[in-house]
Amino acid sequence: MNDKIIISIDGYSSSGKSSLAKEISKKLKYKYIDTGAMYRGVTLLAIRKGIFNSDLWNVQNFIPFLKNINFKFICNNKIDQTDIFLNGENIQSEIRSLDVTKKVSFISQIPEIREKLTLIQKNFGEKKGIVMDGRDIGSSVFPKSELKIFMKGSIEVRSYRRYRDLQKIGEQISYEEVRTNIIHRDIMDTSRTISPLKKHIDYIEIDNTFLSMEKQLNLIFQLINKIKKNKHSIV
Ligand code: DC
Repeated sequence: MNDKIIISIDGYSSSGKSSLAKEISKKLKYKYIDTGAMYRGVTLLAIRKGIFNSDLWNVQNFIPFLKNINFKFICNNKIDQTDIFLNGENIQSEIRSLDVTKKVSFISQIPEIREKLTLIQKNFGEKKGIVMDGRDIGSSVFPKSELKIFMKGSIEVRSYRRYRDLQKIGEQISYEEVRTNIIHRDIMDTSRTISPLKKHIDYIEIDNTFLSMEKQLNLIFQLINKIKKNKHSIV
């Protein structure tokens, strides 16, 4: 019997989704898929194709580039990091740039792009044993996932986290600018028409403003053990 499950982690920008998802996947030896990185990857592709430079911007001109798009997530055990590859190229660092970060909310509103990425994400989960994080995983990608987590945290803590990450990669940006961008993305994520970020009734909410990783993991593993026990008692 396959007792692997699907764990969906949705929530606000910089709320610690990916740190938590990575820890869970490591402990369970599950695959980790960062869907935000996929939306960033498509944004990078759109920038490279000059889509944002044109006065004649028309989404329909970009859609054909999605046809044969290919994403791979490969775990680099040496540095304990999962890298994302777009059409064979490692784009892990480039997708964290400020330029991509500023444009990704726009790209992630486009129905054809969401449809394409949702399909690819569903395929990643075919054999279960996966931890996926994003905004719509528990609601649209895997509505039947066994465990759905919703992450939130104060705007200050989230902004500081993102500010620190951007500094690490050498971006020149003030804390205030990061905070403004996060507020903007919160609004875009929660108000878009298709698959907005929303805490549904079947989500378990974690506010990690003051919660250590250890405490978050304790809570999650209690839930996972309960789910697995129930699965076995049903069979
Ligand atoms: O998690 P992140 O900040 O790297 O995500 C980048 C953007 O992608 C975010 O502003 C919203 C969008 N996104 C989305 O619309 N749906 C997802 N499942 C994941 C991310």
